[in-house]
Amino acid sequence: MSRNFINTLVFLLFLIGNYNFLFSQNTVTKQSPIVPNPSVYIATGEDFNLDNELLINTTNLPLEIQNYLTIEFRKLYGISLRYTTSKGQLNFKTFRNVPKDSYSINVADDITITYSSEQSCFYAVNSFLQLVKQNQDSFVIPKCFVDDAPKFEWRGMHLDVSRHFFSVDEVKRYIDLMAFYKFNKFHWHLTDDQGWRIEIKQFPKLTEIGAWRDSTVIGHANSKPNQYSKGKYGGFYTQAQIKDIVKYATDRYISVIPEIEMPGHARAALAAYPEYSCTGLKHGVEGLWGVFDDIYCSKMETIDFNKKILDEVLSLFPSEYIHIGGDEAPKTRWKECENCQKVMKENGLKDEHALQSYFIKQIDVYLTSKGRKLIGWDEILEGGLSPNATVMSWQGESGGLEAAKQKHAVVMSPSSHCYFDHYQASSSTEPLAIGGFLTLEKVYSFDPIPKELNIQDRVYILGGQANVWTEYIPNIKQLEYMAFPRMLAMSQALWTTQKPTYVDFEKELVVHQFKLLDRLKVNYSKAIMYPKIDYLRTKNGIGIVVHSIVADEKFELEKVEKPSFNNHTVTIHNQITQKDTLYFDRTRKSNFTKISTITVKAETLKKALRFEINSNSTIGLPVNLITKPNPKFNNRENLALFDGVRGSRPWKGDEWLGFDVDTIQFELDLLKSSKIKKMNIGFLMAKSSWIYLPQHVEISVSKDNANWTALPKADATEYFTQKVNKKARYIKVQIIADHKIPEGQPGEGFHPWTFIDEVEVIK
Ligand code: ACM
Ligand code: ZN
Repeated sequence: MSRNFINTLVFLLFLIGNYNFLFSQNTVTKQSPIVPNPSVYIATGEDFNLDNELLINTTNLPLEIQNYLTIEFRKLYGISLRYTTSKGQLNFKTFRNVPKDSYSINVADDITITYSSEQSCFYAVNSFLQLVKQNQDSFVIPKCFVDDAPKFEWRGMHLDVSRHFFSVDEVKRYIDLMAFYKFNKFHWHLTDDQGWRIEIKQFPKLTEIGAWRDSTVIGHANSKPNQYSKGKYGGFYTQAQIKDIVKYATDRYISVIPEIEMPGHARAALAAYPEYSCTGLKHGVEGLWGVFDDIYCSKMETIDFNKKILDEVLSLFPSEYIHIGGDEAPKTRWKECENCQKVMKENGLKDEHALQSYFIKQIDVYLTSKGRKLIGWDEILEGGLSPNATVMSWQGESGGLEAAKQKHAVVMSPSSHCYFDHYQASSSTEPLAIGGFLTLEKVYSFDPIPKELNIQDRVYILGGQANVWTEYIPNIKQLEYMAFPRMLAMSQALWTTQKPTYVDFEKELVVHQFKLLDRLKVNYSKAIMYPKIDYLRTKNGIGIVVHSIVADEKFELEKVEKPSFNNHTVTIHNQITQKDTLYFDRTRKSNFTKISTITVKAETLKKALRFEINSNSTIGLPVNLITKPNPKFNNRENLALFDGVRGSRPWKGDEWLGFDVDTIQFELDLLKSSKIKKMNIGFLMAKSSWIYLPQHVEISVSKDNANWTALPKADATEYFTQKVNKKARYIKVQIIADHKIPEGQPGEGFHPWTFIDEVEVIK
């Protein structure tokens, strides 16, 4: 008999045991208020009333979980719990022959939680905490049956405490919130260029020097020239504090995976011990965000230094996995370093990528000898994967796919779906972030199993993880804002086997989960409730419709600046509803090259959305994109280049089309011949995101689509403009990009991104 069959049988027997409850009433099935959604949720439509107290039978309730339940119940609902060892209102049963980590909750005239392991008892308790609802002055729990087990064994959240430091209490709060949504791996990014955050007793300078930087860049690192705030910034965790946090997490069934970065992102360590760099030159702890050439030298002394650090790390962290980074290590110094070249020669290594592999392998052998497993970012595939290594795939899915094909364990964390430092809304209300665009809906669509992966290799995918890099997250409030509610969508992706539709999930958030987050005083983003804009192509331009998921939301046009709006073409009400459209017409000369600033304020959230429309003579123009943008950056694909919205800098949100090919071509038809003065094309330069200017632009124009005049080939610039001064109707544009990012630049060796927005034909 298969295990699945036995599980199903056990489950059916369990249901029959609850026969009276399930089938004696008018059973209704509803979407569960619990996030992540359990596998089974059946509610009767009736409620169990909670008085000011709840009597709990502690038989079969582990003491740590009892303490957790008491504290959290009071924190959330202000309700006290009373305990007994005989029959209570809430009773616990163990039920061993069900899948690992599974539990069930039966809320009828009394409540029974049945679980298979302590861990699953903890999961049940968190689900139970989420079932409580307020009905006017009293609290109720829906009478229901819940049966549940997780989908993936690795359900991770990461936190970077190097770029910005978070106190012990703040880290514990993060762990609490992880636990509430059933995450079980806390990836603690403890070291990086901008600060070393873990006390290492053998090397005290790591924290005396490495934990402190003298200045920090202000604003976006891509906004040149950089400006810096002066003042010492930093902090670190003592070993006693680390033990305390590890215990705190363990009590919540969360394993803490420390990350000690090597060979790159080591500037803070090298500020303390420059002898482990290639040059030996002393640099301060870095105050700018990015990727830096000074990395660990690969000589034996450095490997030994890192082994000694790891000895102390292992004594603090009992986790099976130890993360050693491995990402973004430029090979610039290694190429010029006698020591590194010697190691390559002695070990027959063909290039610096093989040297990186050699470095990681030493550490892998060491960790394996101590009974631990090495995990690293997907760059550890470079030059060959070390035998026992697990890969955390961040540069898309390809690293994870490759590792799984090589029969290595994988944690999927592609930046396209898992980087919570990216913008979550395109609204002008968003605080500064690193760039990118990751909506709640996109996180919700995340599946750690790549579609291309063979069925037999899927077992290598342990699960997934969201990462919170904190360059632009200076405090816990901002951390919560970036993590929530995206963390809830991630928990659905990693735990839930029966995911509701995104629309149903969104509704449940607004109806129930946001209230829980309010009770927990989480500073979550309400971006999903902000006004949103849809752009439509109309006959002569574009139309803009404002909408919101808030039912009957009203919007007020708060401010309309500078446009010579023509009443024939643009309708302005003081109040607009989800049905109204604002029209921008390219055929009305009065609108040309006028920037209209429009502010729409939503009544419910009092949130204002500001957008600028550049109403020029090509707005809404049809474009034939011969080269398609990459699906990661193709928002409003058919309209983006001519929607009147110029892509913002620093890169923010979704206005840009992103291409990762050598040649980009598109064609325009202006519908009639007219004198064209010039053509503008916006390109983005954001090296740290691997977005580079293309090489050059070739434009041809024609009156009849048969005889073409090529304009001189011109170098691409951020605000590219080329004089045309010709009569034409048809335009062809060809953009030539580099094939590879040059050595020494962020993303070296990869194809650069070309980001384009907006295209304007000036008549
Ligand atoms: C990474 O984002 N550099 C792992
Ligand atoms: Zn070296």
